[in-house]
Amino acid sequence: MTTTPTGSMPGTSPGSGAAHEFSGYPEVRAALADPRLVPPPAETGPPGTTDWLRATVSRFASGAAHARRRALTEAEVALLDPAALRVAAERAAAADDGRETRLVVVGTLAEALGLADPEAVADAVATVAGAYFGGAAPETLAASDAAVAWLAPRMLPGGGSEEDPEQARGQRWEERVAGRIGLLIQACDATAALVDHARQAGCPAAGPDLPAALDRLVTETMRVNPPLRTMRRVAARATEVAGCPIAEGDLVLLDVVGATAAPEAAGELLTFGAPPRACPGQAQALALAAGILAGRAAAADGQASE
Ligand code: HEM
Repeated sequence: MTTTPTGSMPGTSPGSGAAHEFSGYPEVRAALADPRLVPPPAETGPPGTTDWLRATVSRFASGAAHARRRALTEAEVALLDPAALRVAAERAAAADDGRETRLVVVGTLAEALGLADPEAVADAVATVAGAYFGGAAPETLAASDAAVAWLAPRMLPGGGSEEDPEQARGQRWEERVAGRIGLLIQACDATAALVDHARQAGCPAAGPDLPAALDRLVTETMRVNPPLRTMRRVAARATEVAGCPIAEGDLVLLDVVGATAAPEAAGELLTFGAPPRACPGQAQALALAAGILAGRAAAADGQASE
């Protein structure tokens, strides 16, 4: 091991909601693979609300529900060709109409999914993103609830199951609708932060090598300064990570930047998570970010030469 787990934090004891931190590659990989360590679960709420959304996506689910929902989302992501997204994102960013990066990200994805009014979808998704990860203030939650109610009927053009009206009201329909909203939210702020962090590192100069240089820049940014440095899990059942006992209810914090930097990672970007929950949109995220950086650079060049 090149790094060691810090184990339980001082002043806490197992079972009392203790927090444990790990930063070594084997420990972080093992923790992410452990089915007893799950994302903080979501309580459900009335259909069409933010709580309903959180409780119906794969992101906060576990076990069979996670596997079933993730398969639906993976099928959606497979429809999104990274090269085409890159071209579309570059074009949208080059338009330089003052639109926020996260709205360009979601609008590009919404258009690729064939959704009507992608700009309005992007605005609504950005609103929900403020409440999606939980702990939102009442007014943020109320705005998010309204945005979820607006988004839900628009996610499956044609109703998604005209041939089977019963199914339209069933679990599968709900999970497909929630899965699409969840996919757009997962992409929203994370991809915009990747663009910001890459810009901070300094964009390469325009020229024939720009596309390849941008590929290297976004990948390196995901390695050293990703949108998310720490991932968290809660122990649904008692377990252990690298010999460190974790009691039911304990919190586990995973330093994915530290783990990615370890030689054993051998280029694996744990900053995109790891199986069974690894980000299914990695290629799309890198392509969108590179496209937006290229578009913004073209817009800046245009302004400079005016
Ligand atoms: C730079 C941008 C992105 C970063 C850093 C990122 C990172 C992550 C991470 C770390 C997870 C795992 C969360 C966990 O295990 O607790 C995740 C899950 C997910 N990501 Fe991404 N993501 C990005 C962009 C995207 C994009 C563009 C899409 C869709 C096209 C996407 C779709 C998803 C989905 C659907 C999940 C949930 C997977 C599951 O429930 O198993 N992400 N992402």
